Amino acid sequence: MTAVGIDAIEIWTGKLKLDLPNTFAEKKGEDPEKYRKGLGLENSSFPDVYEDIVTMGANAAKRLMERKGLTPEDIGRIDVATESSFDNSKPVSTYIAGCLEQVFDENFHHANKGERKFACVAGTQSIDDAYNWIKAGRHRGRAALVIATDTALYERGDPGEATQGAGAVAMLISEEPSVVELSTEQGYGSADETDFLKPNQQFPSVDGKRSMQVYLARMREALEDFESVAGRTHPDDFEYIPFHTPFPGMVRKAGLLGYRHMIRDTEFEDELEDEIGRQPREAEYDDWDDYEEALRAYMDDLKETEEYQDWYGRVIEPTLSLAREVGNWYTGSVHVARTSALKHAAETGEELTGDRLLVGSYGSGAQAEIHAETVREGWKEEMDELNIDEQLDDRYDMSFDEYELIHDVHDHEKETDVEEFTRPVGEFTFTGWGRMNERKYEYVE
Ligand code: CAA
Repeated sequence: MTAVGIDAIEIWTGKLKLDLPNTFAEKKGEDPEKYRKGLGLENSSFPDVYEDIVTMGANAAKRLMERKGLTPEDIGRIDVATESSFDNSKPVSTYIAGCLEQVFDENFHHANKGERKFACVAGTQSIDDAYNWIKAGRHRGRAALVIATDTALYERGDPGEATQGAGAVAMLISEEPSVVELSTEQGYGSADETDFLKPNQQFPSVDGKRSMQVYLARMREALEDFESVAGRTHPDDFEYIPFHTPFPGMVRKAGLLGYRHMIRDTEFEDELEDEIGRQPREAEYDDWDDYEEALRAYMDDLKETEEYQDWYGRVIEPTLSLAREVGNWYTGSVHVARTSALKHAAETGEELTGDRLLVGSYGSGAQAEIHAETVREGWKEEMDELNIDEQLDDRYDMSFDEYELIHDVHDHEKETDVEEFTRPVGEFTFTGWGRMNERKYEYVE
């Protein structure tokens, strides 16, 4: 069967940075360690005055297309995943196609365009749509451009403010891909939840602590559902496990839960028995609360074992390095996590071709999706082409007052006139509004 998956990845970060342990924590009167150790964050990215979800997405897509030597004729589909859209009718993909048509000779009139919404899981859903389109043979030899782009802002003063971020991930989905092949098997955990939502409002209403519980519950369901079609998972099956990363501290919890699940009834559980006992089994408890308490106590002990810490350091930690620097990119977040892991492997000289990843996506409201990926031969060349480190180094480091101004600039309810902090070079920029309140863009050489 023809392999279908991710052929190329490009990442575009917002060009401003907020230093969380220093600039943000100091102003909030909080211990920097809450950010560094607790949430696991160093910096977050923000868009400059002339940036938004369209410019970031179009800039990532342009770089990807040029690097792969593609023209619009090669693309049969442009799907944008976002939860930061500014229009309830016209999809962001039309704006991005319009931008790209400013710099490419051909147009995208033949391409099917859409916008996917299901909180942060929509990026993965868009990849799914592209996968199914290709597998169904409707692609006429063309590839799909999937762009996950978000400006993840919270109301100022909301606990989520610490986890903001902005950026875009563009991915080319094709036959015989260079980076990873997607598994046909998928697992879902999906329920009507009220953990994080934006009922016709820009900034989310968030039940932060509950959102973390819902993330873990849906992720566990998705893993069990995945195993029902793909067979039991084992800690040695996967080289890396990239999760949706609203902040690395969340993934610390998901990683522990996943490891406990995977070692149940395996030689790993046997080997740890002398040190921490066996996992509590539900059948051994009359009371659900007692069972839950026993599970929590087991997890606390498991977390401290050398076996778990070694696995976490190898399989999960490398997925978090970019997230620590950029914050939450909502739809792009799990794709940033995959890229972090592959980039780490490329930098440390690891040979990954043929190895497998387990990818855990999540969107509030709520749905988790888990699938496996097999790394393809061209993965390293693709990682070597990334320029995300340079982009991160070039970001303008905002003071707290500048951060507040930028937050206002991107607040749809406010009109704030602020000079840009960086100079656009060779990129798309937002230039203002047209006669029908549409947003206008120009390419700056
Ligand atoms: N030193 C070390 N660690 C410290 C510390 C210190 N001085 N002070 C606090 N910490 C630790 C805390 O113990 C905690 O870690 P644990 O959870 O492991 O105990 C961590 O730092 C965070 O501290 P708080 O819980 O006190 O932080 P908070 O209440 O201010 O906010 C939050 C945390 C609720 C997650 C908030 O950031 C939030 O609402 N975020 C937005 C919602 C979100 O991201 N939810 C995640 C799941 S939903 C999802 O994934 C979808 C999505 O993208 C939004």
